[in-house]
Amino acid sequence: MTPVPIFSTDHGSLFQGDCLDLLASLEDESIDLIFADPPFNLNKDYGSGIRDDLDEDRYLDWCGQWIKEGCRLLAKGGAFWLYNLPRWNVELGHKLNDNGMLFRHWVAVDIKMVMPIPGRLYPSHYSLLYYTKGKPKRFVRPRVPIPVCRHCGGDIKDYGGHRNKLNPAGLNVTDVWTDIPPVRHARTKRRGANELSEKLLERVVTISSVEGDIVLDPFGGSGTTFAVAERLHRRWLGSELGEVEPIIARLEGRTFVVPAPNRGDAAKGQQKRPTREVPAHQSLF
Ligand SMILES: C[S@@+](CC[C@H](N)C(=O)[O-])C[C@H]1O[C@@H](n2cnc3c(N)ncnc32)[C@H](O)[C@@H]1O
Repeated sequence: MTPVPIFSTDHGSLFQGDCLDLLASLEDESIDLIFADPPFNLNKDYGSGIRDDLDEDRYLDWCGQWIKEGCRLLAKGGAFWLYNLPRWNVELGHKLNDNGMLFRHWVAVDIKMVMPIPGRLYPSHYSLLYYTKGKPKRFVRPRVPIPVCRHCGGDIKDYGGHRNKLNPAGLNVTDVWTDIPPVRHARTKRRGANELSEKLLERVVTISSVEGDIVLDPFGGSGTTFAVAERLHRRWLGSELGEVEPIIARLEGRTFVVPAPNRGDAAKGQQKRPTREVPAHQSLF
């Protein structure tokens, strides 16, 4: 059955349901850019009975299904960006390779707050895989401001005496992104569970698409990808298996109140399940 959008704008359509159903309904090579930020299998509660505590093999199998579909849907030269924990992206990169995709980068997205883990290094980045279907058809090189000391305003690096040769438009972005802010405050968050910074999506969308291209995000969440696509005049398609009201409210410019944790039934489905102790090998990082 062809999925029916639950919400549409001039630029795009949102589908409520399993992303595999939406992906299966789309035509080969019809998408220019895919951004995927799936559940990390950390036993988070996304509501609607979504399982986020699968056996490792089942989780990877499931990821393999939507990755395969995504690769089928990408137009030649289209880009696949995949955000996950390093431990999963090590495996998911293989799946992208097996689907004939071209590795471009493993971007390390710096985590601002790190928690010590006994017997391990401090985990300090999320992984953002960047692949294309053959030679990229879009690659807009972003530039970032030349970093300066926030106390004295002077340069942080000396550029080996070649400061005057730097492009005044800014530095080339590297594959280590230290300037992506977390979205943590209840005031700015649109839902209890994960929400990415618009800055991250702006960068991805700018690098790998131009106005009018079609961006697909199978894991809508709070709708960050769709909000950025709207603003940057990309067309978009997306799905979300859980609650879609935060996405719709965001795209309509309404405020969606995130229930505070531990405040009774209203907050259910937004809280982390307190039950299971997460084994070290499954811990966040
Ligand atoms: C990590 S969140 C995405 C957050 C999003 N990038 C944002 O900035 O708001 C993953 C989302 O995928 C949704 N999800 C889980 N399984 C899904 C499936 N099979 N199909 C569609 N969405 C799914 C979850 O409900 C959750 O909202």
